[in-house]
Amino acid sequence: MTTPHRHLLQIEGLHPPQIAAMLDLAESYVLLNRSGKTQRDLLRGRTLINLFFEDSTRTRTSFELAGKRLGADVINMSVSNSSVNKGETLLDTAATLNAMMCDLLVVRHGESGAPNLLAQKVDAAVINAGDGTHEHPTQALLDALTIRRRKGRLEGLKIAICGDVLHSRVARSNIHLLSAMGSSVRVVGPPTLIPAECARLGVEVFHNMVEGLTDADVVMALRVQRERMSAGLVPSAREYFRFFGLDFEKLTYAKPDAMVMHPGPMNRGVEIDSAVADDPVRSVIKEQVEMGVAVRMAVLDLLSRQGFRNV
Ligand code: NCD
Repeated sequence: MTTPHRHLLQIEGLHPPQIAAMLDLAESYVLLNRSGKTQRDLLRGRTLINLFFEDSTRTRTSFELAGKRLGADVINMSVSNSSVNKGETLLDTAATLNAMMCDLLVVRHGESGAPNLLAQKVDAAVINAGDGTHEHPTQALLDALTIRRRKGRLEGLKIAICGDVLHSRVARSNIHLLSAMGSSVRVVGPPTLIPAECARLGVEVFHNMVEGLTDADVVMALRVQRERMSAGLVPSAREYFRFFGLDFEKLTYAKPDAMVMHPGPMNRGVEIDSAVADDPVRSVIKEQVEMGVAVRMAVLDLLSRQGFRNV
């Protein structure tokens, strides 16, 4: 299978068979990883640069591991964007990366659209590792893989995405992917944290956890992203937890076998109770991290089939 795209910038616009094929390939990497084997010939001699303008633990580490398991030379560049003019920095960076003849560029940036801009300026294949509040495509793929492995399918599932949807690129990518694959997606949160575009995206909106969680197969909690909030959109953490924090009491309204997800990092006691997050039966949060490595290996593998640099 090949992808018609040279880059992976967003889920929006991908077709269901393309998504399914990526998940199938990722599944084969889950098995490879569990067997302890690697496939270092695939990207031997290739260079992958992790270019992170924002903090990251899971995403950056898993791209690094994925690249190394496929044999690439991996370089991590952390760039603070606090004091620099973003447009200028990005274009300067693009020129530098081109000179280094990098093959794969994994970008995280605080501005929505930054990876798209870089993709126009660099010769490398660009992967969006999260841009502003826009998209985080590999997170949606790893979430879908986690759900599909547990539930056996995506079609027909009721999926509740809860909390700070407004600032969440994870939510946006998940809404596109899960809707395309036939899941029924709803968002649950206070009116201040649910963007108006949700109606346009065809998702159901709830402002009450009891209604929003009723009959759900999957409950995904999102981090309250205070760093992206200009004004006080949420009351105190205690109040927020009372109404929107995922605890066992609220979870009783979902299906008895509903699975609990969170992309991390978690604010325990704010959007999710520790007892739920750590529950070995309901929570798949650690499995999401494992799937992250397999999904990123699959994405690197697929983009490598496009021949990388357009020089
Ligand atoms: C998310 C992100 O950075 O968008 N984290 C992640 O990649 N696992 C979600 C978040 O920051 O809350």
